[in-house]
Amino acid sequence: MRLSVIGCGYVGLVTGACLAEAGHDVICTDIDADRIAQLKAGQIPIYEQHLDKILVSAGKSGKISYTVDAGEAIRFGDAIFICVGTPPRPDGSADLSAIDHVAQQIAAEARSPKLVVEKSTVPARTGIELQRALSAYSRGNGGFRVASNPEFLREGTAVEDFFHPDRIVVGVEDPAAAEQLREIYRPILEHKFTCPVHDGKCPDTHKAEFLVTTISSAELIKHASNSFLALKISYANAVADLCEKLGANVEEVTHAMGLDPRIGTQFLKAGLGFGGFCFPKDIQAFISLAATVGVDFEILKAAERVNKQRIDRFFDKVSKALWVVKGKRVAILGLAFKANTDDIRFAPALDVMKRLLDEGAEVHACDPEALDKAKKQFPQAHYHGDPYSALEGAHAALVCTEWDVYKKIDWDRAGKLMARKLVVDGRNLYQPEKMKALGFEYFSFGRE
Ligand code: UGA
Repeated sequence: MRLSVIGCGYVGLVTGACLAEAGHDVICTDIDADRIAQLKAGQIPIYEQHLDKILVSAGKSGKISYTVDAGEAIRFGDAIFICVGTPPRPDGSADLSAIDHVAQQIAAEARSPKLVVEKSTVPARTGIELQRALSAYSRGNGGFRVASNPEFLREGTAVEDFFHPDRIVVGVEDPAAAEQLREIYRPILEHKFTCPVHDGKCPDTHKAEFLVTTISSAELIKHASNSFLALKISYANAVADLCEKLGANVEEVTHAMGLDPRIGTQFLKAGLGFGGFCFPKDIQAFISLAATVGVDFEILKAAERVNKQRIDRFFDKVSKALWVVKGKRVAILGLAFKANTDDIRFAPALDVMKRLLDEGAEVHACDPEALDKAKKQFPQAHYHGDPYSALEGAHAALVCTEWDVYKKIDWDRAGKLMARKLVVDGRNLYQPEKMKALGFEYFSFGRE
């Protein structure tokens, strides 16, 4: 099928690339002309595992192309995936102006009926408003059908998640739209693709469920899922605080809790809390949406509050350990909001960095992928690709992202390079006994 993707950010680029890899003819467009120029030149503007491989293969087979001309993109596809940003407004609600702008473009440029699919995370009822807007902007002549097809991709494993989803949710108003979307996802549902992640030897994953719902349900499913996961993390963090006070070990507690299948082991990892461009903004947008219809989502407000306090709790540990922060050389291990991505949006590490700089510390940060982005935001810090070089002469090492390479640090070697053997671990990567045996002052979450 011929498909158009509007917006070449994390969601749009992965969606476009994977749909092309699954056999469709895809055109991608973005208002950022530099981004399109980069893509045309074979450069990939984001770091996402396996994305480079599929963009190269889809480019060679002619399955994917890029254009700055939104009209060209709109006219090309039978279905148009809207993957533009929905950033938070000052009151926490989602800014839908980019979606509205795309609706105007579609209405003006389309020459045939289109299925318009919202993939961006949007509050419930956006689809209905989008349908209304398309009809108004085209003066009722467009013949547009609208569907919601939320994405559940995690950054870092987005390509794998696309080819091996738990569920594909399509919110539609008419059965024909559901059938068109089922056709688009048929290669995934019937496993008819060469898996770029497992080189053809995919693990025996269960089949994805194809769920057809109303548009509003589909939109709610996305917000309700992300908010629930965020809630789980904040719950684990509150339990961690309690463990510290009561002399228990949060890992023992959450592991045992998670063995109950009703709870599950995932998203119970205590530490610096959740960041990224999804959970913090989605939880805010969900609270704000609920308020507009008179529902006080108190439980989510608490989850948000617990998450914000993580940075204070972490910084308390750092400043108690260091006594005086001013003038200290501090190494930050990890800047990305989580491992395997270069994304630093709402990354807890950046809040930590800002506090350290404000207090007058000399910050030496390292990250395998996110250095360029962080440098632009905090030019006054020092940056290192190699963790041992960041740790040299440091009075403290602060672990902010759970990159594998930091799990494998040789702390015996690092300790000899550091000015003081002090580690404050925001991701509980190491065993306290082992670190203490190596002569480190070691602080983490929920395990004192
Ligand atoms: C999240 C969801 O997991 C995806 O399903 C969804 O599609 C995506 O948002 C989105 O809305 O686009 P993502 O933001 O990539 O994906 O990252 P996660 O792996 O969910 O992690 C989110 C944050 O929670 C990270 O900062 C991570 O470090 C933190 N986290 C995660 C914890 O602090 N503890 C945990 O146990 C798990």
